[in-house]
Amino acid sequence: MLKIVVCVSGGGTNLQAIIDGIAAGSITNTEIVGVISNNPGVKSLDRAAAAGIPAFVVRPKDYAVRDDFHKAFLDKLAELQPDLIVLAGFLVRIPEEMVKRYPGRIINIHPSLIPSFCGTGYYGLKVHEKALERGVKVTGATVHFVNEGMDEGPIISQKAVQVLEGDTPEVLQKRVMEEAEWILLPQAIDDIANGRVCMENGRSVRKV
Ligand code: GRF
Repeated sequence: MLKIVVCVSGGGTNLQAIIDGIAAGSITNTEIVGVISNNPGVKSLDRAAAAGIPAFVVRPKDYAVRDDFHKAFLDKLAELQPDLIVLAGFLVRIPEEMVKRYPGRIINIHPSLIPSFCGTGYYGLKVHEKALERGVKVTGATVHFVNEGMDEGPIISQKAVQVLEGDTPEVLQKRVMEEAEWILLPQAIDDIANGRVCMENGRSVRKV
């Protein structure tokens, strides 16, 4: 049984896709042992509560220095003892120490086809604003293992989504979530939980 901790910041629609996938049996051999949010009072926490999943808030501004926040965050993770950490709409830069402690055991969902529209400053709605500004005809989402860089880890899976005439950032974000994120992330977790995907020698490897 793969024990996962899901890290969130806001709405938690990707968390919900994981919860629903486990309930429906499309994600097997997996248990969400905890949800950690850097923000209190967000919908992600309601979603965790409704599913009976222990949820914790570890908020940067509760700590005088960033290192203390990092320590608190790492201590909470150590308490939950995850096999896999899933960053699902998590908008905080994770501490380098976390990547060292959990090599090949942290994944992230990013709302673009990496290496487009990613890296520092590219998160949430801003990603779709930039895609529309550039005038791309196709965008999508990427699931990747997390390394020391920002959105630079080995890619596990990607899914393309059409950009349509008249799209606003909000409309495009919703389409990318519905047609890509909420499909890719549960699929990646199920693949990892059942030994079909792992990170080896710094690369994402598909076993079967
Ligand atoms: C969304 O923009 C998603 O693309 C990105 O984080 C944002 C919030 O996702 N991964 P969620 O609804 O909190 O899962």
